Amino acid sequence: MHPTTLTLTDPENQQTITLPVRKGTIGPAAVDVSGLYREFGMFTYDPGFLATASCSSSITYIDGEAGILRYRGYSIEELATKASFLEVAYLLIYGELPTEYDLSKFEHNICHHGMIDEALKNFFRGFHHNAHPMAVLIGVTGSLSAFYHDTLDIHTPEQRELSAYRVIAKLPTIAAAAYKHSKGEPFIYPRYNMRYVENFLHMMFATPCEQYRVNRLAEKAMNLLFILHADHEQNASTSTVRLTASSGANPYACVAAGIASLWGPAHGGANEEVLNMLEEIKDVKHINVYLDKAKNKNDSFRLMGFGHRVYKHYDPRAKILRGVCHRVLKELADSNNPLFELALRLEEIALQDAYFLERKLYPNVDFYSGIIYRALGIPVSMFTAMFAIARSSGWMAHWLEMMNDPEQRIGRPRQLYLGHALRQYNSIGKR
Ligand code: CMC
Repeated sequence: MHPTTLTLTDPENQQTITLPVRKGTIGPAAVDVSGLYREFGMFTYDPGFLATASCSSSITYIDGEAGILRYRGYSIEELATKASFLEVAYLLIYGELPTEYDLSKFEHNICHHGMIDEALKNFFRGFHHNAHPMAVLIGVTGSLSAFYHDTLDIHTPEQRELSAYRVIAKLPTIAAAAYKHSKGEPFIYPRYNMRYVENFLHMMFATPCEQYRVNRLAEKAMNLLFILHADHEQNASTSTVRLTASSGANPYACVAAGIASLWGPAHGGANEEVLNMLEEIKDVKHINVYLDKAKNKNDSFRLMGFGHRVYKHYDPRAKILRGVCHRVLKELADSNNPLFELALRLEEIALQDAYFLERKLYPNVDFYSGIIYRALGIPVSMFTAMFAIARSSGWMAHWLEMMNDPEQRIGRPRQLYLGHALRQYNSIGKR
């Protein structure tokens, strides 16, 4: 049982403050410190927000100790095996599973917003052919606000909904175009008669020269990966979207900011780094050298795909992917994939190591997602873009939720100031 209030005493000034405790449906309660500065003249200090709830939300629930992840109350294990990605996107945005009619309408809407303005295509020509797809994705997504003036009024629910559709629909088109640009191949237009993931794979791998048939197993595996990556409550990129949006910025600019945050190797960039790391380790016999590097405080190397801010037990998404990884590699004629064998061995050795056990560092979702993406033929530099496409549904769900939140205000953290108190200005010749 959580207390309903928390009382703080400052014995020096003989002051006491009683702070209300707010309870969620499940999970830890939160002490409401919003009155602390006003009444006590103090801030709370929590670098990296280890113990701070930045908002209330009804979208995703995580219990990191028990390895639980639920979207709108539905377990990730059930959604992963029974739903399609757009069904999950609908659930995240509207809070309920769609009826058949709702889903087909939603699919139709997303599908029919897949095209990008012909003028927007010119933007790609400005990028060097070896530009990282995430750099292109940030730039081009941000520039969508220059094309869709009809959805920039964030105070109109219809316009908000339309921009959510546009973001979810156009990110695959932009990501595939970034890939085509890097290959020097013509862009492939989205197809209105294809499913979301099927359409994305088609835009990535079809050429105007021949018929391209999307592999059903690849589509299924990617659908699953998109579901697992769709949302993860207040992670760095989602919090970035929320903070950016809190100033009233338009949704395309907010998503561009979210993509920028996602790109970092400690967040979504990890799936690319896992593959790079496995390739660098190369052989099982080198594993111990890399484990020693990861444990060495003077070495910046970290075991990519291990550890998580919230999961202090096996990441439930990694558990699902571990099994899928086997199946995908077997069926896509890559069963002897040496990187997968290496990954399994690395996992086994790390999980017997006191350093990783003591710190509760288990494989996370990105430990396996990269291996599967690679087996599906997705180039390593596109891995984080895959994550961004999937997470666009979560970003939009959070953005829509916060726009309706009566407690929403501009995000403005405070600081513990450690600089000089006051100094005299010396003219330049006297310094
Ligand atoms: N390899 C080696 N040591 C690690 C690792 C790692 N991957 N992760 C954490 N540690 C150590 C860290 O050095 C620290 O040790 P000590 O207590 O001796 O100083 C301890 O474990 C706690 O680490 P932390 O940095 O305080 O933990 P955090 O919650 O701030 O960071 C993390 C979480 C995910 C950023 C971190 O575990 C990490 O950098 N992992 C590798 C990158 C990665 O795989 N990221 C993908 C996350 S899942 C996808 C997503 O949702 O974005």
